[in-house]
Amino acid sequence: MTAPILAAQGLSKCFGSRKVIDGVELNASRGEIVGIVGPGGAGKTVLLKLLAGLITPDEGTVHAFGNDFAGLDADQRAAVWERFGVLFQNYALFDFMTVGENIGFPLEQRRRGDEVGKGAAAAARSAEIASRVAVRLREVDLPGTQHLYPNELSGGMKKRVALARATIADADVLLYDDPTAGLDPVTSSKIFALIERLHPVRTGITVVVSHDIDRMLPVCQRFILLDKGRIRFEGDRAAADRSTDKMVRTFFDSSARLSGSDKTPIGVHRQFSSIELLSLKGGRCSPPSSLEYAPSGAQSKQGGGLRRKLRGVRSISILSDPLSEPTADEPTADEPTADEPTAASRVSR
Ligand SMILES: Nc1ncnc2c1ncn2[C@@H]1O[C@H](COP(=O)(O)OP(=O)(O)O)[C@@H](O)[C@H]1O
Ligand SMILES: [Mg+2]
Repeated sequence: MTAPILAAQGLSKCFGSRKVIDGVELNASRGEIVGIVGPGGAGKTVLLKLLAGLITPDEGTVHAFGNDFAGLDADQRAAVWERFGVLFQNYALFDFMTVGENIGFPLEQRRRGDEVGKGAAAAARSAEIASRVAVRLREVDLPGTQHLYPNELSGGMKKRVALARATIADADVLLYDDPTAGLDPVTSSKIFALIERLHPVRTGITVVVSHDIDRMLPVCQRFILLDKGRIRFEGDRAAADRSTDKMVRTFFDSSARLSGSDKTPIGVHRQFSSIELLSLKGGRCSPPSSLEYAPSGAQSKQGGGLRRKLRGVRSISILSDPLSEPTADEPTADEPTADEPTAASRVSR
């Protein structure tokens, strides 16, 4: 067993009086792709930020490459962060930079002394960066969009630009927060294929938080189900299949998620609360045989009502192309908090 690349021990985090991460233990070893799933508000995003050393735990430690984040000075921390690539749930793109500049930014940050300025080495490096950006843009299906600014992009496009930026510098730790939220099925499959292909299998790890269980199943070797800040389940797909825990079954058993909603209304609810950008539209039919959903930016605050309405539902249609809609982030404060670096400082390190 190799030493873990990332190791969290006894991790807890409170916001005010609410404990949102509660005693989490997690080790990810070289070559692993770990999937984190759980209901909205379970603490997935907070856990990912703790693992990235972007927020400080109240209790416990996070070690990256054997270094305790808490014991590192700013330079040491920056050196560790150089080995991280993070796709944030809210994209965290720089709005004053073009798509090309956003994606190339991590490489710009890594220019060596002789590659800065106007010399031949600098020009060669600029050309190389431009070429890598162009290749990655083609891979995320956005060829030739270098000159656009983030405010000219749909939510789905921003997501793909953020993925390109997270992966451009061949990081050893790739952390993705909901990389396919709001994307259409074809693009989502391409994104997961890319996540698998860009996984640093020999040098590092990938951790992906997602609701897209069907696409995670073939890609992730190990899963963590987070519920109310605690690890409810940890194991591989076979262990998930064997589990008799209703919540585990709800998340991992696609037949429980896609049918039998009379028996497992929670399961259906979970699936749809998990596509958090979708909110109920219409749905007055009683008893409903089908419901229509549309991205609206509203959150699924209607929890109980949604659950009731979903009972007996057999088919769900999604109205309008989610790709053309900005994805609504979960009802969390995704803006940096006092102990959290700004997006700019996160990426520039
Ligand atoms: N910076 C913050 N300040 C206060 N509460 C927060 C903050 N970030 C997250 N939370 C709360 O922590 C809980 C877990 O959030 P999060 O990790 O975003 O959940 P999710 O599993 O949906 O990603 C939520 O109740 C959220 O409101
Ligand atoms: Mg989240």
